[in-house]
Amino acid sequence: ETCILIGAPVDSGKARPGCLMGPDAYRVAGLGAALADLGHSVCDLGNLSPEPCDTQTDLPAHIHAPSQTIGWTQAIAKTAESAMRDGLPIFLGGDHSLSLGSVPGVAAHSAKIGKPQFVLWLDAHSDFHTPHSTSSGNLHGTPLAYATGADGFCGFPQVCAPIPEDHICILGLRSVDPAERDRLQNSRIVTHDMRQIDETGIAKPLAGFLDRVAKAGGALHVSLDVDFLDPVIAPAVGTTVPGGATLREAHLVMEMICDSGLMTSLDLVELNPFLDERGRTAQVMVDLAASALGRRVFDRPTQAFA
Ligand code: ARG
Ligand code: MN
Ligand code: MN
Ligand code: MN
Repeated sequence: ETCILIGAPVDSGKARPGCLMGPDAYRVAGLGAALADLGHSVCDLGNLSPEPCDTQTDLPAHIHAPSQTIGWTQAIAKTAESAMRDGLPIFLGGDHSLSLGSVPGVAAHSAKIGKPQFVLWLDAHSDFHTPHSTSSGNLHGTPLAYATGADGFCGFPQVCAPIPEDHICILGLRSVDPAERDRLQNSRIVTHDMRQIDETGIAKPLAGFLDRVAKAGGALHVSLDVDFLDPVIAPAVGTTVPGGATLREAHLVMEMICDSGLMTSLDLVELNPFLDERGRTAQVMVDLAASALGRRVFDRPTQAFA
């Protein structure tokens, strides 16, 4: 596999700064070497810049930094589509508003080669607001709505290949605002909240989704938000929510994704290195990416228990 590292130091999706240091933190934590050790060829495109954008939009006045985020969306979407032709893009965030570009960009490529696009959203939040439903005004809470082709994203590029709602699975949910909850409940997005994960384990709902992607011959975009993880193991994120996935659950998710052979693109988002402790959150994210791309103790099949 050719892994294409794309630095996207997007920091405009919310008010608190720091995610712009994310791409370099992943590099310092050894992402490139970890993937190369697994036998992949690694190509680091460096960091993108936002396209200039001074559009006067009709977005609500409380939306934070709209033109910057629109500029990033344009730049990331173009790079995403072209990188898909050359390998497996890994988007190094940057806050989750980077997925306003990465998801529609990879989906545009999949549409051209005739593959249905699926999205696995690993997150405490559903990020299903529109600019009109968000009360925080933070666009990092909106990318999943945008990717499905929701209205209200005035000034943003047209989403040419919207993701069908039933091609989206959210795993790890534990913080959903009332307005997005109503829209989520009326959608066909498949959600597995932490309560369900407690009851069934994490493998079962994930296996069901991966099975659907495989049967459809789909392309799979995985979007990993740091706050999917429990803050005890991943403190470097501005929107911590207690009660997240454990290190073992998260690695199992990544290992199952790897075994499925379905992943075609990956976002690593919301890392705020300014909030980290000796780089340990960056290291966890690098280790999870390595699991998704083949790191394991033994080659399969493992010995059966006696
Ligand atoms: N729902 C909240 C909001 O709209 C939190 C969003 C958090 N999103 C994220 N990508 N961390 O502000
Ligand atoms: Mn998110
Ligand atoms: Mn989140
Ligand atoms: Mn379908």
